[in-house]
This record gives sequence, structure tokens and C-alpha cells, in this order.
Amino acid sequence: MRKLLFLILATSLFLYAFDTSDASLRVLAKKNGLKSAPTTYEELKTIAKKAGNPLTIQKINLGRTLFFEPLLSRDETLTCASCHKLSQGGDDNLPTAIGFKKRVNPKHLNSPTVLDASLSKFLFWDGRAKSVEEQAGGPIQAHFEMNLTPEELVVRLKNSVIYQETFKDAFDGIITFKNIEKAIGAYERTLITRGKFDDFLDGDDNAISKKAKKGLVQFIKQGCTKCHYGVTLGGQTIQKFPKFKEAYPFKNIGNFKGKDDKQIIRVPLLRNIIKTEPYYHNGSIKSLFNVIKIEGKANTNKKLKKEQINDIIEFFKTLDGEIVDYGLNG
Ligand code: HEC
Ligand code: HEC
Repeated sequence: MRKLLFLILATSLFLYAFDTSDASLRVLAKKNGLKSAPTTYEELKTIAKKAGNPLTIQKINLGRTLFFEPLLSRDETLTCASCHKLSQGGDDNLPTAIGFKKRVNPKHLNSPTVLDASLSKFLFWDGRAKSVEEQAGGPIQAHFEMNLTPEELVVRLKNSVIYQETFKDAFDGIITFKNIEKAIGAYERTLITRGKFDDFLDGDDNAISKKAKKGLVQFIKQGCTKCHYGVTLGGQTIQKFPKFKEAYPFKNIGNFKGKDDKQIIRVPLLRNIIKTEPYYHNGSIKSLFNVIKIEGKANTNKKLKKEQINDIIEFFKTLDGEIVDYGLNG
């Protein structure tokens, strides 16, 4: 009997200890700015309203159609989804983007993911846009992307019976470039992913493996969360890169120098990072292992061990997510 009591006591103590360690890891993660992704349409609506683009189902539906609309490009061959493939991590997996008539990005910039991008404070590699709405007009006009003027696009949509109807529903029939940007932005605001990490943060201890938890501890302890934080684990600040070395620690293809040519670069989002290779602004590194090794040296001034890097990769796998079904796809 005493043996049994002892066993019960020991097991519950063990379970208690285990439980608190998961609970305290969760607290530590939150304290360091990591957050889970919104689960409800109501939350999305609040965020969008604050950003000055209140969501309606009609606006989102119009934005979805525009995102996949070849009329947005001069020769009607490209859509937003050509470079931002939703089923492949929201990017194109090319080192640099290829746009109108196979023109490559003049600074050899890599296409970032559109997934979760709406939750960033800074968009583009130099952080020059502050919202998805502000961003959306850029690629339509860039001569190496879709290469169309706002006026030409508005004429094209005004000539379409279908768009006359959908704009009626979404914007009282007013077809302007601003409303096009708003609709695309509204749709992008629904492209939120949730992965196993969100379940862990929201209280499910068993959502992620022990190795992933070790990786999360490393990610925090090594100082990665100083820059990679928020729901998006990035996108919240622009930073001098690299912090601890003068030259780029990788091949400087494209001679991109960031904001004001001062090597100030928007911290990339790490959601779905497993799927968005190749990495860095110019897509020069394919292996995530090598990226983390470089990040250790360049941004935290630490030489990370092989095991630490592999644990962080295991943690990154838990950031892989599915687009949340907010019940809007009609
Ligand atoms: C030819 C490929 C291409 C096309 C077409 C394209 N994009 Fe992009 N997109 C890129 C590249 C490259 C960047 C980064 C450019 C930069 O930083 O200057 C980018 C950046 C973005 C970003 C910023 C993400 C972030 O985290 O900073 C969003 C959002 C985005 N694009 C949405 C769109 C939308 C919406 C469309 C259609 C209207 C579109 N893109 C069309 C290649 C493309
Ligand atoms: C001082 C801010 C800062 C810190 C700290 C930091 N990073 Fe970064 N990280 C950046 C910036 C800026 C870039 C983009 C650099 C570029 O592309 O030129 C980046 C890029 C990355 C990328 C590539 C993302 C992509 O899509 O191309 C990964 C992965 C990454 N960091 C992981 C880490 C890890 C792991 C740590 C901790 C060991 C860390 N970072 C610490 C700022 C930081």
C-alpha cells in the first residue's frame, strides 16, 4: 500500500514537473513576443479595421478574384499567384522573381511569402510598405513584374461585366486603383496560417515534440526573438544586417543595400520557413541549416552547434501551417 502511494505521489510529482516546464516554456515564449495566430473572423475584422480597411465578405471575394486575375498584368500572363503560390508556402521557390517577359528583379530580390504577410508592420525587403493595401499596387506597376499602369487596369476592369457586378457588391460600383488595392489587401488579410506551434502556445503540451521544444528554447536563448517576434516571427522591425559583420556573410548577388542603401533590411517572417527556400533577400542560400549557422554568427554573434541548429530546424517545422478556414470560402 505504501509502495503504491509512493508510486502515485512520484508519478504525479513527475507529471507536475513536466507540466510546469511546458507551461513555463509557454510563458517564456510569450514573454519574448511570440504569439499564436488568430482563430476567428472576428479577430481578423478587428485587425483590418484598425488598419483602415474594414473587411466584408464581398471585398474579400473580389480580392481573391483579383489575386488570381491575369488582367492585372500587361500581357495577361501573370497573376499575383504566379510568384506567390499559396500551396507552396506563398512564394515561388526561385532565387529571384521572374516577371513580365521573363524580366528578373533588377536587385535579384527573392519573392517573400504572402502568407501571414498582413500581420507585418513592414513589408518588402527594405520595409518600404506599411500594409498589404499599400503593398498591393507595387507589383502591378513594376516594369519587371506585371508592368501595367493604374489607369490601364481601371479601364480593363470597367470594361468587364463581371467586375462591374463584383465592384457593385464590394464598393458600391466604384472601380478605382485604391479600391483594387483595398480588395487585394482584404483577401490577403485572410491568408493566415496556423501550425502545431500555435496549438502549443494555446495550451496543448503535446502539439510539438521534445526536440522542437528544445529548439524553441534555443531560438529564445540565442536571442533570435530579439528580431523574429510577433505572430509572424518577423516583419515587425527593420534591422541593420548583418549586425556583427561588415560585409554580407553570403554572396552579394544583386547589390541590394536595403533601406537608404544602409544595409537596413526588413526582418523576414519565419512562418512556413521550411517551404520558402531559397533564403535571404537575394535567395542565395538554399539550406536552412546554413542560414541558421549564418544567423548565429551574423546576428547573435554566436557559433551555434550542429545539435542546436537541428533543434531549431525541428522548431521551425512546427511553424509550418495550413491557411485557417475562417468559413469565408464561398
Ligand atoms: C514577378 C513576380 C511577382 C508578382 C507577379 C507579384 N509579386 Fe509580390 N513580391 C515579389 C517580390 C520579388 C517581392 C519583394 C520585392 C521587394 O522587396 O522589393 C514581393 C513582395 C510582396 C509582398 C510583401 C511580403 C513581405 O513580407 O514583405 C506581398 C504582400 C506581395 N508581394 C503580394 C503580391 C500581390 C498582391 C501581387 C499581385 C498584385 C504580387 N505580389 C505580384 C514578386 C512578385
Ligand atoms: C538583429 C536582428 C536579427 C536577429 C537577432 C536574428 N535575425 Fe534572422 N534575420 C534578420 C534579418 C534582417 C534577415 C534578412 C537578411 C537578408 O535577407 O539580407 C534574417 C534572416 C533570417 C532567415 C532567413 C529568412 C528568409 O526567408 O530568407 C532565417 C531562417 C533566420 N533569420 C533565422 C534566425 C535565427 C535562427 C536567429 C537566431 C540564431 C536569427 N535569425 C536572429 C534579423 C535577425
